[in-house]
Amino acid sequence: MEIKTQTLPPSQRRTRPDDQQLGFGRIFTDHMLVMPFDAKRGWHDPEVRPYAPFSLDPAAMVLHYGQAIFEGLKAYRGRDDGIYLFRPLANLERMNRSAVRMCMPTLPVDTVFAGLKALLKVDGDWVPSADHGASLYIRPTMVATEAGLGVRPAQEYLFYVILSPVGAYYPEGFNPVKIYVTDKYVRAVPGGVGEAKTAGNYAASIMAAVEAQQAGYTQVLWLDAKERRLVEEVGTMNIFFVFKDRIVTPPLSGTILPGITRDSVLRLLADWDLPVEERSIAIDEVFAANERGELQEVFGTGTAAVISPVGSLHYRGQDCQINQGKIGELALKLFNELTAIQYGRKADPYGWVIRL
Ligand code: COI
Repeated sequence: MEIKTQTLPPSQRRTRPDDQQLGFGRIFTDHMLVMPFDAKRGWHDPEVRPYAPFSLDPAAMVLHYGQAIFEGLKAYRGRDDGIYLFRPLANLERMNRSAVRMCMPTLPVDTVFAGLKALLKVDGDWVPSADHGASLYIRPTMVATEAGLGVRPAQEYLFYVILSPVGAYYPEGFNPVKIYVTDKYVRAVPGGVGEAKTAGNYAASIMAAVEAQQAGYTQVLWLDAKERRLVEEVGTMNIFFVFKDRIVTPPLSGTILPGITRDSVLRLLADWDLPVEERSIAIDEVFAANERGELQEVFGTGTAAVISPVGSLHYRGQDCQINQGKIGELALKLFNELTAIQYGRKADPYGWVIRL
């Protein structure tokens, strides 16, 4: 499919704000990629056009029954001034798995990738400089636009991609975050939509996140819905525990998000010959190991969060301080390695990076 491009005249384009003042997801670039779907024509007329509000029927099914999926990936500015994408096809493939789970149409990956490249060509100047750990966050999104109140798969959808220059996701930056373990709420149930990147999973997480923030914590760590004992994931990232003799991360059991950063970290750890187990791990095991002095580090992984060291966990009135609240050695090594590959500073032996 040919990608049409309609761009703003230079006089109407905005300049990117200071790379050190970006925050996360508050500023959007001048253009977006848009592609509609209907049952007759399928996906059609992909277009790069100026960023602007959509007009949506009040009965649009996404507004009522929540057929909405999204992705998150990043473009990085290399020191050679090139733009680097990290595993973009893995994101599009995951989006298609989310689409299948939510009874939404799958995307033509080649067209979407060509559209993304066309969008980045137009808004390439918005990719922040390599200096302050900033990047351009890419948010592909698909929503059901058909007007109707019957509960069934919609026949019309809109796919779009917006871009946002971002700094660190957490206000702490790379400093360790404080995490609240909840056994009051659950994020996902077996057989549910936990592994799909669908809006409802995030909506369901907000109350617990607000309560955690009110208590002074940055994020929530979710436990499994059945026993409320086994660790699942943190609100915006997967989680890893570093014990004296092994590293453990919960398995992809269907209730957690199959993180692309998680997968990349597993690959790096395997290449460094570190013993890693993808297995169920109870929160009590984590606290007990910490008491015995066997828990060395905890860190999260995610596109937005990158590698995020965890300084403490709070569970049932007890606080467990990890690594004296300091950044762990392994988290730092992973952060340095991963970002060196992402920003094109280091050769990429994995074929993860695409230079535009
Ligand atoms: C990402 O890491 O890209 C995410 O999608 C998390 C997000 C909800 C901020």
